[in-house]
Formats: sequence, structure tokens, C-alpha cells
Amino acid sequence: MVETRDAEAVIRVRDLAARFDGRTIFERVSFEVRRGEVFVILGGSGCGKSTLLKHMIGLYEPAEGGIEILGERIDRMQGAARTALLRRIGVMWQSGALFGSSTLQENIEVPLEEHTGLPPEARALVARVKLGLVGLSDAAGRLPAEISGGMAKRAGIARAMALDPPILFLDEPSAGLDPITSAGLDALIRQLARDLGTTFVVVTHELQSILAIGDRCIMLDKEARGMIAEGDPRRLREESENPVVRAFFRREVLS
Ligand SMILES: Nc1ncnc2c1ncn2[C@@H]1O[C@H](COP(=O)(O)OP(=O)(O)OP(=O)(O)O)[C@@H](O)[C@H]1O
Ligand SMILES: [Mg+2]
Repeated sequence: MVETRDAEAVIRVRDLAARFDGRTIFERVSFEVRRGEVFVILGGSGCGKSTLLKHMIGLYEPAEGGIEILGERIDRMQGAARTALLRRIGVMWQSGALFGSSTLQENIEVPLEEHTGLPPEARALVARVKLGLVGLSDAAGRLPAEISGGMAKRAGIARAMALDPPILFLDEPSAGLDPITSAGLDALIRQLARDLGTTFVVVTHELQSILAIGDRCIMLDKEARGMIAEGDPRRLREESENPVVRAFFRREVLS
């Protein structure tokens, strides 16, 4: 955690509103993600975490507001410029989604094949390096069906890192994992942030994870239809006056 208050913002979300068929999921959402930090988006099921992530990577068009990634307005870009910007971010979806009929090694080579002019030997080498980073060197030749859920999550991260993106988005990386595997994944995320300087945007509602990996976070709330907290999760746990935020961080039942 080498961040200071003045660290450069690599993502800026301004007054963002998300609506589907006239129904507001959230509005007036504004925050910045700084270079090299692990930034957590948290909140209960259905509050719009995945929706926010999809806006941030340009999959959904904002009903209001805008999103700047690495200095560019992703919500206004099209064509080749948009593709070039998207190449600079890596995404691991909630569902994981490795290609089932390809080995882990091949899974990681896919984005390299699509987006780089690297020859096959170089692609294979890069894929092996990425698998090594997430501790899967020995599983390179296995199919997704032949590995555990925790290994599949790590393989998903390795694939998201294939093109060396400065920003990685992870949607619920530890969902469905046992506590020990989940803690291992948290340690991996922290290690990658520290060693590679990668900026992470992680969606989760697991308190242990948030406290273990998050430099800063925002909390969304379904009833409030927007942000109800922003800051260092450990400080929010100690200091927040908002009853919903307190209830979440202290595992209290809302009265
Ligand atoms: N493409 C869409 N069209 C219509 N409604 C949508 C769409 N995407 C999301 N929603 C709605 O937006 C709300 C927020 O969904 P979202 O998936 O962002 O929640 P979440 O916070 O990620 O929940 P979870 O923790 O369960 O993953 C839900 O009510 C969902 O039905
Ligand atoms: Mg979600």
C-alpha cells in the first residue's frame, strides 16, 4: 500500500446513473480509482455492483454521467479507439467462463492470438508465465473440468492478465470458494497489486475479503439507489455513522 492522497486517478466515475426500462438501479455515483490500489465495490445482492462494473468497462451506456478510464471517456468511444482502450483492461466475470474444451494454457493464449501478432512459441511462453504468476504452472495442460473452483478462479485471473493490462476488474472472485481458498485468492490479488503495480477493481460482498484486500471501497445500497459509503474499509467499520454501513461491517442485524 504505497498510495497517497495525491496518487493519480486511473478511473473517474462522475454522476453515473443506471436505469433499465425506466427503473433506477443507482444514480449520482461518483468516485475515483487510484493507480496501484485495490478498490472494492461492495453491497448486498441486487444493489448494482455488476451493473456498475459493466458501465465502467463500457458494456452499458450511462443513463446519466460518464466514466473516464486512463484519461479517456470510455462511454463516448467507438470503433478502433474503443477496442484499443478495452485491450488495456482485463476482466474476470462473476461466472468465470473459461473455454471448456481448451486447456488452461490454450485459454490464456486466446486473447494473445486475438490481440497480438506474437508467434505461437511466444504466446505459449507468455501463457506459461501468467499461469506461473497465479501458481498454476503444473496445471497448464488440464481442461477447466479437471481443476477445482479455486484453480478456475486463478486461471480466470491469469487469462484476464494475458495482455498485461494496467487495470484488472474482478467480479466476485471468491464467490463459492471455501474460506481457505478464498484467503489464498485474496493474498494473490494483493501480491499482484504489489509486485506488478496493477490496479484492481474488485466486486465482492464478503467482509473478510474486503478487509483483507481493499485499500479503499465504495458501498452501494439498493434502497438508497446509490452510494452510501466511500473510503478505507477498516475506517468505515470503526467510524461510519450510517446504520446500514455499520450493520454490514460489524455483522449486526439492522433494527
Ligand atoms: N441488462 C439488464 N436489464 C435489466 N435489468 C438489469 C440488467 N442488468 C442488471 N439488471 C438489474 O439491475 C439490478 C442490479 O443487478 P446487478 O447484477 O448489478 O446486482 P449485483 O449487485 O451485482 O448483485 P449480486 O451480488 O447478486 O451479483 C437487478 O435488479 C437486475 O435485475
Ligand atoms: Mg453481481
